[in-house]
Amino acid sequence: MRGSTLAQAVAIAVSGALLVSCGGAARDRAASPRNRKPGPIRVGLSLDTLKEERWQYDRDAFSAHARELGADVIIRSANGDDSLQTEQAEGLLNQQDVDVLVIIPHNAETSASIVRAARQRNIPVVSYDRMVLDSEPDLYISFDNIKVGELEAGYLLSRAPKGNYMLIGGPPTDNNAQLLRQGQMKALKPSLDTGAVKIVADLWARDWQPQDALEKTETALSRNPGIAAIVASNDVVAGAVVQALDEQKLAGKVLVSGQDADLAALQRIVAGTQTMTVYKPINNLARRAAEAAVALARGEKVETTGTVNNGKIEVPSILLEPIAVDRNNMVEAVINDGYQTIQDVYRYVPLDQWPRIPR
Ligand code: GAL
Repeated sequence: MRGSTLAQAVAIAVSGALLVSCGGAARDRAASPRNRKPGPIRVGLSLDTLKEERWQYDRDAFSAHARELGADVIIRSANGDDSLQTEQAEGLLNQQDVDVLVIIPHNAETSASIVRAARQRNIPVVSYDRMVLDSEPDLYISFDNIKVGELEAGYLLSRAPKGNYMLIGGPPTDNNAQLLRQGQMKALKPSLDTGAVKIVADLWARDWQPQDALEKTETALSRNPGIAAIVASNDVVAGAVVQALDEQKLAGKVLVSGQDADLAALQRIVAGTQTMTVYKPINNLARRAAEAAVALARGEKVETTGTVNNGKIEVPSILLEPIAVDRNNMVEAVINDGYQTIQDVYRYVPLDQWPRIPR
């Protein structure tokens, strides 16, 4: 899988805030500026899917921020279908004649053709949350996904420093799934080297699908009794893992990680069946991405935090910090940030057991 070697090759060169006009692509654009149609900036937003809760939030937050900046946003969602995403992106570049394309790729490698098509039309591209590999996007904006993986495995290690572990990630075609696994292995390595921890199952859920995650977890549990912890890469997968554990009367007895601070995950953490999740303040990601997209469309400079190599170029990048969340800091980290409400999270908990919300 070329992806995995490229993911390993991913290096973050941090050289502090860089005011870049976003690399080679921008240089070409500066050389031959695109004569943009008069009127508001037209932003094309090409989503892989709206299946997971967070993408609906990304869509709404990004569109709201871009519209606040005076831009029109044209949205397309490909329901996890590569050829549909390519078709939709070409529609945004050609018929819709957008001034900038923001893409959340379903497949990190096949989506390179979309970036090439945009460059041929001199239209800047923002790789949003997930990297498009082997191509020249103008900007990559995401959270530090290696750090997300470290937080997931590191938290479980702090609670279960010894024992049999299972890893279940997303599809290797999602570069983030590779980065998460890289971070998880980084956290686990010292314990693997001493033999304190043993990985008894190393799984990848097709397209982050809960049904596939459930079946693979059920099989792994039946083959591996006495699991101490399951490093699940996101909350949808964690939900399937908890369901499989529940079938074995192990829910709440085996540690389970997650990511995305989905409502159901926060409710599981309050109920004690999921151990932690990783919160990524998406409103911040969406706002920074909208600002950068509009700036790129205007040919303006964008402030970055460094670069990330995607196998072809050092992509100018903005990497944001993720936050490990458990029952103790959920109010301060997620609820006070307005991502979920206490009423929703504690819906199944008697009122007198709700945490006090500091005013
Ligand atoms: C990843 C993303 C995660 C997760 C997953 C499923 O790329 O970083 O937040 O939700 O996709 O869509």
